[in-house]
Amino acid sequence: MTRLCTLIACTLLTGAAIAQDGRELFFSCAGCHGADGAGDPAKGAPNLTGLSAVYVARQMRAFATGRRGAHADDFFGSQMTLMAPIYVDASFAPDDRLTPLTNFVAALPWRSAPSRFDGDAARGAAAWAACATCHGARGEGNPAMAAPRLAGVSDWYLVRQFNNYRTGIRGATPGDMDGLVMAATARGASLGDSDLADIAAWLVTQVPVDDTGTPIQ
Ligand code: HEC
Ligand code: HEC
Repeated sequence: MTRLCTLIACTLLTGAAIAQDGRELFFSCAGCHGADGAGDPAKGAPNLTGLSAVYVARQMRAFATGRRGAHADDFFGSQMTLMAPIYVDASFAPDDRLTPLTNFVAALPWRSAPSRFDGDAARGAAAWAACATCHGARGEGNPAMAAPRLAGVSDWYLVRQFNNYRTGIRGATPGDMDGLVMAATARGASLGDSDLADIAAWLVTQVPVDDTGTPIQ
């Protein structure tokens, strides 16, 4: 019994230590992504809440290795290529910083992101059918398809990323299977910026957590 209690205490302590660590690490992200992680349109930094730890870690590695953000025209991505190596590259981070950081980001309370455009949510809901197979009926994301949460995404960020895939700024590196899938989808779809703004106007109304705040992926 004593041993069991010790184990539980240890687990709780370790959990608290990880949470603390992640919070401290996130301090340097908050300057752009906001203290609550919901993003900042003025800085072009997207909403990070509701993203899975697996997806966040994959993007951090992609930024650190130049799979994302290295294209000459990727002004916004280039900001992350400066940040990510500090958390991913072993020569900067001898201790494992990525796991506590991504666990902290994945546990951030859900927030819907500020939007800019004036899309038509009803039209967007209809257009969403083309995206639902991979990103989920309500944009909650689908880990089995490696497709991230898009519910609550900012419209300006959705438009930028979709066009990045379409023009080869993102998802064009050989071996980037998930990016290549999305890039092929973006090139195959005939969606202009106003169609994408409609989709985003609907997505921003979707909430990918249940009543207890648990992600519904
Ligand atoms: C100097 C500003 C800045 C800082 C600091 C910053 N970011 Fe970013 N981040 C951005 C911008 C801008 C983008 C959008 C990149 C794009 O358009 O591809 C971004 C994108 C991301 C993405 C991709 C999100 C997605 O949906 O694919 C993740 C994950 C991310 N940042 C995590 C972090 C973490 C974790 C930190 C702290 C270690 C951090 N960022 C610090 C500006 C910043
Ligand atoms: C065949 C599956 C598939 C379909 C269909 C699909 N996506 Fe994706 N999407 C993905 C995958 C996989 C990723 C992650 C790619 C990566 O890691 O770079 C992604 C990523 C994205 C991103 C980047 C999100 C972020 O946080 O940076 C956007 C935006 C996006 N998709 C929009 C759409 C829209 C809009 C549609 C419908 C018109 C759509 N997708 C249809 C698989 C799909």
